[in-house]
Amino acid sequence: MVTLGSYILRNSTPMKNFIYLFFSLLLLLSCQEKDNQSHVLTSQSSEGYELLKNQCYACHSPVSSSHDVIIAPPMAAVKMRYSRRFDSKDEFVDAIISWTMNPEKEKALMRGAVDKFELMPKQAFKEEDMLKIASYIYENKLEEPSWFAAHQKEMHGNANGMRQGMIK
Ligand code: HEC
Repeated sequence: MVTLGSYILRNSTPMKNFIYLFFSLLLLLSCQEKDNQSHVLTSQSSEGYELLKNQCYACHSPVSSSHDVIIAPPMAAVKMRYSRRFDSKDEFVDAIISWTMNPEKEKALMRGAVDKFELMPKQAFKEEDMLKIASYIYENKLEEPSWFAAHQKEMHGNANGMRQGMIK
């Protein structure tokens, strides 16, 4: 049986060896590059998740036991509402940042929520953190409370037929 190694040895010339080595090195380098990139991406999005948990989930909880006990819409509901209004990631992220840095009644897309919970209080958030949080929200599927899907269907119809601003 001819193994790859013995084939290369038997057919090797200095030039062939050189080419073989060159491409192996290239392959190795390109793999390392990919590894580094994905490492950066994961650490960025896990940073976004940590910030989201620490700065938003106290109110926008993904694990509330029922709709009756919540103090703000779950973040999955906020995402759903903002995704219907803003198509591109840039618009979506800008809108979330602009809202969190300065929540104002006139800007609210979730008017039902403003009536029910009152306006989100203005807090001393850092804009750079909001950028990471908003990107995380846009790019990832968020956890939802267990009651959320049923509530969504019952109160607001399906995603296409949903009425404006009716997250209550
Ligand atoms: C102290 C509680 C509290 C915290 C903390 C909080 N929110 Fe809110 N948020 C609310 C309430 C209440 C509403 C619903 C009423 C409203 O829309 O203003 C809301 C609504 C929103 C809305 C929808 C606004 C609209 O168009 O009506 C967005 C977007 C939002 N929050 C983002 C965030 C993000 C991002 C964070 C974390 C950086 C955060 N919130 C932290 C209480 C909070």
